[in-house]
Amino acid sequence: MSSQNIYILGIESSCDDTAASIIYNGRILSNVIASQKIHEEYGGVVPELASRAHQQNIVPVVHQAMEKAGITKDKLNAIAFTRGPGLMGSLLVGTSFAKSLAYGLNIPLIDVNHMQGHILAHYIDEDGYDKPPFPFLAMTISGGHTQIVKVDHYFDMTVIGETIDDAVGEAFDKSGKILGLGYPAGPEIDKRAALGNPKAFKFTKPKVDGLNFSFSGFKTAVLYFIQREVKANPNFIEENLNDICASIQYTIIGILMDKLKLASKQTGIKHIAIGGGVSANSGIRKALKEGEQKFGWTTYVPKFEFTTDNAAMIAIVGYLKFLEGDFAKQDVIASARLKI
Ligand code: KG4
Ligand code: ZN
Repeated sequence: MSSQNIYILGIESSCDDTAASIIYNGRILSNVIASQKIHEEYGGVVPELASRAHQQNIVPVVHQAMEKAGITKDKLNAIAFTRGPGLMGSLLVGTSFAKSLAYGLNIPLIDVNHMQGHILAHYIDEDGYDKPPFPFLAMTISGGHTQIVKVDHYFDMTVIGETIDDAVGEAFDKSGKILGLGYPAGPEIDKRAALGNPKAFKFTKPKVDGLNFSFSGFKTAVLYFIQREVKANPNFIEENLNDICASIQYTIIGILMDKLKLASKQTGIKHIAIGGGVSANSGIRKALKEGEQKFGWTTYVPKFEFTTDNAAMIAIVGYLKFLEGDFAKQDVIASARLKI
């Protein structure tokens, strides 16, 4: 079979988005996402509701991805799916669907690590986007993970730093909850931060050795600060919301950038990529660009549609594994705590 003619269907169902994408020789033909609005009412993802919504969404989403790509299923060369990490019930829906479709079509099945997806999304062929050369550093920042990964090759990755408690996305979301913002709060904090003064309020940065992160103390600091201020002035939040958001975002970005600088210094690597939902944040994007001037970095920031969970990132990993002949067996099982 020519490596010039490969169609991969990617399926992502690790958390609260059901997504499917068709990639043809590394280029996207379609990238469909059904986001689950139901969780907004609860201020966070409810696992049982997520898996039920995946069950409802998966057939129409895959169907739509094929339709948008203009292909029929007999054209597919392989099916890639997120094996983990993520919510077990959610992962099971995508895994079972992918297995049965691959079995029915008699084509290879490819298991994908969601975190590798966030990192390798940079290898989707897109006009005007450069791919990072090996080795590079990838910082994955999402609602579930915060890691710095040294990437020596597509499937030769080492986690050199990670959070010891909350993920950075949780720091945004939990701070937002304290302020009475909706879920997920990251995008709204980002918008309001642009209108506020980042130095209006000071939050101390956690002290964690080496390249690891910690965000649970930060969240508690925000809680105590707000409780104290609201006691003195019940309108404190409304009167200062943009400044509070700007100060929270400024502190979080400072924490991320400190560790990234240290990682670059320790490894001598100056090619730096980011991935995951929080890489949509305009403050972190700006800080990285500044790193290019200050530290001689070359930075790789994904297009917005590839920052939050999507299936194109799963399909591109599927394509890269397909080229290596790295397939999964039918008895592969979902793994909620899958490691890189
Ligand atoms: O990668 P993702 O879609 O799902 C996980 O795998 O977790 O990341 C979702 C996270 C949420 O915590 C959300 O608040 C955060 O990404 N996020 C942002 C922004 N957009 C999404 N955080 C800060 N600024 C943003 N613009
Ligand atoms: Zn993710």
